[in-house]
Amino acid sequence: KKVVLAYSGGLDTSVILKWLQVEYGCEVVTFTADLGQGEELEPARAKAKLMGIPDEHIFIDDLREEFVRDFVFPMMRANARYEGDYLLGTSIARPLISKRLIEIAQETGADAVAHGATGKGNDQVRFELSAYALNPDIKVIAPWREWDLTSRTALIEFAEKHQIQVPKDKRGESPFSTDANLLHTSSEGKVLEDPWEETPDYVYSRTVNPENAPDTPEYIEIDFERGDGVAINGTAMSPATLLTALNEYGRKHGIGRLDLVENRFVGMKSRGMYETPGGEIYAQAHRGIEQITLDRGAAHLKDELMPKYAELIYNGFWFAPEREMLQAAIDHSQQMVTGTVRLKLYKGRADVVGRKSPHSLYSEKIVTFEDDAGAYDQKDAAGFIKLNALRLRLLNRQGRS
Ligand code: ARG
Ligand code: SIN
Repeated sequence: KKVVLAYSGGLDTSVILKWLQVEYGCEVVTFTADLGQGEELEPARAKAKLMGIPDEHIFIDDLREEFVRDFVFPMMRANARYEGDYLLGTSIARPLISKRLIEIAQETGADAVAHGATGKGNDQVRFELSAYALNPDIKVIAPWREWDLTSRTALIEFAEKHQIQVPKDKRGESPFSTDANLLHTSSEGKVLEDPWEETPDYVYSRTVNPENAPDTPEYIEIDFERGDGVAINGTAMSPATLLTALNEYGRKHGIGRLDLVENRFVGMKSRGMYETPGGEIYAQAHRGIEQITLDRGAAHLKDELMPKYAELIYNGFWFAPEREMLQAAIDHSQQMVTGTVRLKLYKGRADVVGRKSPHSLYSEKIVTFEDDAGAYDQKDAAGFIKLNALRLRLLNRQGRS
C-alpha cells in the first residue's frame, strides 16, 4: 500500500504523515506544491526526511506558472465571483493539486492519495471530485474524517509522542484555518466564527489596512491579449510574474480585502476573511477591457453564465463537462478582448479610469452629446420605443397594468 499525501510541512499534515505510517501502515509519498503561498518549501523536505521518507518519494514542485496560466486566468476570463464577491482563491487551486497528486501516484505506483481537509468543508469535495475525475480507481484517505484526534490537545499529544516538532504558537488554542497561494489568503475559524465580530487587524497578512495606505493614488496600466493580462506599464510578464507584481501594488494600497459569510457546498454557512490583492486589481481591469471590446449580447450572456460557472468551481467540478462547456463559450468570447486598461489604486480601491483597444466597439461619434453629423438618426428611436411600448399600452387598455 502506497499513498501520495498533499503535504505542506505544517503541523497538521505532519501528524497526518505519521498517522498514515503508524495507523495505516502505508508507504507515504509526499507532494508539496509551490503555488506562491510565500513559504519556504525546503523545510518540508527536511521534515519528510526526518519521518523516514526517501528522497525519491519527496516531490516538491513549483506550480506557480501553471496555476496562474491554466487555472486563475481562465477563471478570470469569466469574471467569476462566488455569491457575488468571493474570487475563489482556494477553490481554483484544489483541482491543480489533485491533478499532480494523481500524476505522482501514477509515477510512483501508489494506489491512494491523502489530503488534510476536514470532513466539514469544501476542500475535501474539491480534492476528491478532481481525483476521481482523473483516476476513477484511486483510493482516497481523508484522515480528518477517520481518526480520533478530534481535539487540538489530542493532535498535539500525538505529535509529541512521535517526535513531531510543535511550534510554540501552535500549543495554545487551535489556530486560524488559513490557505494561501498566489491568488489569495483565506482565514476561517476562531474569532471569525462570530459573524458579528469585526475581523481584527492581526488576521490580515498581505495587505496594509486601507486606512493606512498611501495618501496619493498610484496609476498603473495593464495590457490584455485575448482576455489575458500580458503586461504591466508596458513591461511584458508571464502570468505568474504579472499576478505577483499586482499583489505588490495591492498590498501597498490595501486592495482586495473581503469579509464574507458564504454557503459551503456541504450545506452550512461559514464566515471567512479573504485577501486577494492582485486578483482584485486584475478582476477590475478585466471587466474594464471587456466594457469596450465585448458586444452587449455576448457580455450579458457571459454575466448570466458566470454565477453557474463560479458555483461549479466552488463546488469542485473543475474537471466536469459542464465546466468545460462554459469555459469554451467564455474563451470564445475573449477573441477581441485585447487592449489596455488604466487603473487608479487608492486606499483599498482599484478603479478603472481609462481603457483603449484596437477592437473597441465604443463609438464616440455615435454616443456624443454634441452634433454627431448624421451618424445616428434620433427619429429612429420613436418607432423603437413605440413598438416596445405596444404590449404595455394594450395591457393598460385592458386595465391590467
Ligand atoms: N471558504 C473558502 C473556500 O471554500 C476557503 C477555504 C479555505 N480552506 C482552508 N483549508 N482553510 O474556498
Ligand atoms: C477544511 O475543512 O479543510 C477547510 C474549510 C473548507 O474546506 O471549506
